Amino acid sequence: MFAARRSFSLFQKRAFSASAAQASKVAVLGAGGGIGQPLSLLLKLNPRVSDLALYDIRGGPGVAADLSHINTNSVVTGYNPDEAGLASCLKDAEIVLIPAGVPRKPGMTRDDLFNTNASIVRDLAKAAAKSAPNANILVIANPVNSTVPIVSEVFKAAGVYNPKRLFGVTTLDVVRASRFISEVQSTDPAAEKVTVVGGHSGVTIVPLLSQSNHASISGETRDALVNRIQFGGDEVVKAKDGAGSATLSMAMAGARFAESLLRAAQGEKGVVEPTFVESPLFKDQGVNFFASKVELGPNGVEKIHEVGPVNEYEQKLVDACLVDLKKNIQKGVDFVKANP
Ligand code: NAI
Repeated sequence: MFAARRSFSLFQKRAFSASAAQASKVAVLGAGGGIGQPLSLLLKLNPRVSDLALYDIRGGPGVAADLSHINTNSVVTGYNPDEAGLASCLKDAEIVLIPAGVPRKPGMTRDDLFNTNASIVRDLAKAAAKSAPNANILVIANPVNSTVPIVSEVFKAAGVYNPKRLFGVTTLDVVRASRFISEVQSTDPAAEKVTVVGGHSGVTIVPLLSQSNHASISGETRDALVNRIQFGGDEVVKAKDGAGSATLSMAMAGARFAESLLRAAQGEKGVVEPTFVESPLFKDQGVNFFASKVELGPNGVEKIHEVGPVNEYEQKLVDACLVDLKKNIQKGVDFVKANP
């Protein structure tokens, strides 16, 4: 733990909480990384965040010291990689974001990250189950389709699992979809709303263009657009040429999702985000987690929206998605069973 900053932070926290509508502590695990740093920066700029707690196996206190000089009201605290540091980082957190884990290199799929990231996420989930059992857990570490079930199994084993508070962050898929469709249609990307359902890798990412303002897109244009939304992450991995995957756009997407949860927790109604959650939509086909539009509320998941009407082309995408998703989810569940 970063001792000097800690005592300062407690003082500041008291001063701030007197005026803040609601104090919200947000923890970032993996805060020193490519996503963790810009994500923490965006959270530092968010007036809804009162305490920002940053943990990494390398560099948490350094990132915290840097951000703590920004003149926004929140208090930033960095924690070192020991059990006490992680527990203090997590304690009283309302939101825990997990971008800890290795990113892809060119030629890798997200599933190739499983062997390394599964145990990282499992161990961080164990710590969260102990020190922040009621927090909203936002999993960014890939493969999201498997790491979210890993967290759920760890929380179940600890007897603290609440499916309404576990989220796989798939926001980047809709951010990309809005941007890419606007490039094809010459529109304002910020105004584009594209529903993306399923999971967060390759063919499990299912954009539903028929539900957008551009339902008439067809043929090769549609195929290319759908492919770009599904494999957009590869463009970044290739361009970074071994130096990682999307970090800045992901930080924006993660910060947006956290902001949506805070808005909903602070009483705003009708806050809807796409996210990968335990879902009833395809349980009858053995797929227990699925990303669709989810209304958020003070208790986390408020309402899981149906997929809605899909055309024949999209139904095929959904069918292909379910096959992979089922395997990805099972892989996460099996991992925790074999490596508790
Ligand atoms: P990075 O390698 O730059 O950063 C990862 C950070 O995690 C490092 O600072 C590392 O020290 C830390 N770390 C590793 N093990 C840890 C542990 N046990 N406890 C705490 N911290 C630990 O990687 P980057 O680019 O930030 O990506 C992180 C993850 O996010 C990757 O798995 C990547 O695939 C995923 N990702 C997810 C996206 C999504 O849409 N959900 C989009 C882009 C990336």
